Amino acid sequence: MDSKIDIQTIADRIKNGQVTRIVVLTGAGISTSAGVPDFRTPNTGLYDKLAPLKLPYPEAIFHISYFSHTPEPFYAIARCRHPGNLKPTISHAFLALLAKKNLLHFLFTQNIDGLEEDAGVPADKVLWAHGNWKSQHCWKCKAEYPDDLMKTAIQTGEVPYCLRPECDGAIKPDVVFFGQSLPAEFDVKQSHVPEADLMLVMGTSLKVAPCSQLPRLAKEGIPRVLINMERTGDFGNREEDLCILGSCDDDVRQLADLLGWRDELEGLWKD
Ligand code: OAD
Repeated sequence: MDSKIDIQTIADRIKNGQVTRIVVLTGAGISTSAGVPDFRTPNTGLYDKLAPLKLPYPEAIFHISYFSHTPEPFYAIARCRHPGNLKPTISHAFLALLAKKNLLHFLFTQNIDGLEEDAGVPADKVLWAHGNWKSQHCWKCKAEYPDDLMKTAIQTGEVPYCLRPECDGAIKPDVVFFGQSLPAEFDVKQSHVPEADLMLVMGTSLKVAPCSQLPRLAKEGIPRVLINMERTGDFGNREEDLCILGSCDDDVRQLADLLGWRDELEGLWKD
């Protein structure tokens, strides 16, 4: 379906105050320029690099039922997925600028790198739908596990096990694995999507539910903007859909130019 809108229309609606409540959904594509490969891009994505680990299928590395008996592959790659000294990208800074301008109604991120908060997006405006690395528990008995021992396990790639003598469960960071529930707030926070007057989706293949379903909850008639390397999900099915295909960093710079925000954006990113 041909789109009724273009990027200039989006910029105009933001500038003239027609758009004030932007709901954003992000995925791994907004962090690739920070040095974290995404999952599904052929050749460069994580799932194409796992052959040496002899998994039954690539996503098994993040599946709780596989991890429960074979946690070694997860720890073999944990170090390269763990947020080290990463710097937010200009796409993260754009989200922080939306928040600063009181335009960010809510952000759902599937990423666990924490770069949204590092960029300056207020924590009460974000749901880390796939959890985070800030804490860890035994997958089996749910006992807590000390941060310093976890850090060592990630550095060495050795699987850490529960410290309770009667338990033999492996320790899992509190990131959401396939087969596990999303944080309880997800159900509550998804009510923000129909409140949006613009939905912005960045850097995600929209292959993993339930986040992949969020764009469908946007009210009919409001613009839905996809900024991504490829067309994903049901984008293009509505007249008010706009697909801006390319690198998100380039695209947010273009949008910032049209909004007259470019210097402010670059300044916020460098700070
Ligand atoms: P994917 O790897 O599935 O998709 C990333 C998307 O971003 C793809 O459509 C890429 O084309 C696009 N992309 C990559 N680099 C980009 C760039 N610089 N600019 C614009 N677009 C870019 O990652 P997610 O959709 O985030 O979950 O994956 C969703 C979930 O699947 C993850 O949270 C993770 C994974 O398995 C769990 O492990 C539970």
